Order: sequence, then structure tokens, then C-alpha cells
Amino acid sequence: MVAVTETNILELKKLFSGKVRDVYEVDEGKLLIVATDRISAFDVVFNEGIPGKGEILTRISNKWFSMVKYPHHILSTEPDKELEFIKKYPELITRSVLVKRLKRVDVECVSRGYLFGSAYKDYEKTGTVCGIKLPPGLKLAEKLSEPIFTPAKKAELGMHDENIDFETVVKIVGDRTIAERMRDITLDVYKWAHDLLVEKGIILADTKLEFGLDEDGNLYIIDELLTPDSSRFWDASTYIPGESPVNFDKQFVRDYVESINWDKKPPAPPLPRDVIEKTVERYKAIERIILSL
Ligand SMILES: Nc1ncnc2c1ncn2[C@@H]1O[C@H](COP(=O)(O)OP(=O)(O)OP(=O)(O)O)[C@@H](O)[C@H]1O
Ligand SMILES: [Mg+2]
Repeated sequence: MVAVTETNILELKKLFSGKVRDVYEVDEGKLLIVATDRISAFDVVFNEGIPGKGEILTRISNKWFSMVKYPHHILSTEPDKELEFIKKYPELITRSVLVKRLKRVDVECVSRGYLFGSAYKDYEKTGTVCGIKLPPGLKLAEKLSEPIFTPAKKAELGMHDENIDFETVVKIVGDRTIAERMRDITLDVYKWAHDLLVEKGIILADTKLEFGLDEDGNLYIIDELLTPDSSRFWDASTYIPGESPVNFDKQFVRDYVESINWDKKPPAPPLPRDVIEKTVERYKAIERIILSL
């Protein structure tokens, strides 16, 4: 299987390419979002794709969107029913969704039940994460007494997202009630998915949500939901606080680039074949579990 790292739908206007998704305009109120096989780590996109990853992400997100109780952007998961010409691009149908076009809120809404990644780094330096003071002596990957909301400001392409405190979210959003609702939905979705996955032997360590607003100020979950690109999934049976957990997400790629001491600035280093293959396996494994929910 070849990786789809670029798309070009001639019949539609491409609005932008994110790190993973290509976004096309269908009409004023509707977008076609195509998940490619691109992969990024530390906000830099690699040259190599992960074959089939975009389809896996699409199926996982669609499953969660069909289950979640909050409003979301999905209009149709069968774009070929609405856009006849997409049949010319068979490799794209199964990785595309039609969504409501919304005004994106430039905040990554993260909920964490465990201390890892940038949150652990911040905690080591300051004892706090996004302005939240945590008890001393917590280990890497340790479970927090309560899930916390650790937002980040969405960076421009090529820049790193920056952890911010809740008051900064209020300023960015410009409306405290909406900011509180984003926080509450993020924490609630995290707890809900965490509890579902624990039954399957998976720890959902953290997850990132994005939100959009319609013209009337209604809030929707946008982008992707509870995928291995936006979340950390750990194997519960081998989890030990203080150790880097066995995972079903991008951590394998992150660990590889840390191991070669890459400075995390473009250009990205080449990804070896076995890193690509192991990442595909992990994404497939978590897909099987999520689709069985
Ligand atoms: N319904 C929507 N309306 C408007 N914009 C959307 C909608 N859904 C997703 N988007 C935006 O489309 C883009 C999708 O691209 P992609 O997921 O590759 O984003 P990215 O920001 O580069 O990466 P990441 O999500 O990993 O931070 C994002 O900028 C996302 O915020
Ligand atoms: Mg995204």
C-alpha cells in the first residue's frame, strides 16, 4: 500500500493543508476534509507517510463522533453520496468526510488524566501545568487525582503550540461562558472515553479537542476526535508509573526522533521503515479496539 501524502481534487478549491488534513471548500457552509497519511511529531511533518493512517483516523473519528453526545461538525461520512466526482479519486473516498464549515477557535483543548509529554516537562520545571499547581513528587506517566484541562494556543504551521492557562483561553475566545463550555466538554469527553476504554484494557492518558462556532455562537467539536494523533492510548496491563508506557499512538515516532537527538526543527529526519511499520501496527491495533466499542 502506498502512502497518500498529497491530494489534489481538481473540482474543488483547496482552502488549506494542515499537518495531516487537506481541507476543500464544497460551498459556503460545507467543507470536505481529507485525512492524508502524513505524520508529524513536535509539529514538523515527515517526508514519509504512514500507509493507511488517514483511513484509520477517519474511521476512528467517525466512530467517536457517532457516539458522542455533544454537537459536532460531521454532516456526512459518505462523501460519494453527495459529490459524484469524488468517484474519480477512489483512494480519497474512505478518508474524507463532509463537515459543517465553522469558525475555528484557535485553542487546542486538552484534557489529561495522567502526567506525560509537555505537561510532564512543564511540571518538572515549575511544579505547575497551564497555571494548575500539582502536588510535588509526581512521577512520569503518573495518574492525576482528577483530570485537568491543559489548553494550548494553536500555533501557525511550523510553529509549536504553547501551553496556556484558562484566563488566556478566555481572552482568546473573548467570551467566558464559551471558554468554560469548551473546558467542561473537553473534560467530560475525556472521562467518558477513558471509562469506555478502561473496560478494553486501554488507558486514555490524554486527548485534544478542537472547537468551532457557527454564526449564532453555537459550539461544535471539529477536526478529529479521540484518535491516536490527538490522544495517548496506553496498555493498561503493563502500565507502571515512572516508566514510559507501552502505547498505541505516535509515541513510537516521538521516541525515535528523541533517540537520534533531532533538534525538532525542520527539515524532519527520514523515518526508518521499521518505525513506519510499527506505527501502522499500533494504529491498526487501537482502531480494532475502538471500533469494537
Ligand atoms: N469544521 C471545521 N471548520 C473549520 N475548520 C476546521 C473544521 N474541522 C477542522 N478544521 C481545521 O482544519 C484543519 C485540519 O488540518 P489538520 O488536522 O492537519 O490540522 P493541524 O492543525 O495542522 O494539525 P493538528 O490538528 O495535528 O494540530 C485544522 O486547522 C482544523 O482546525
Ligand atoms: Mg488537526
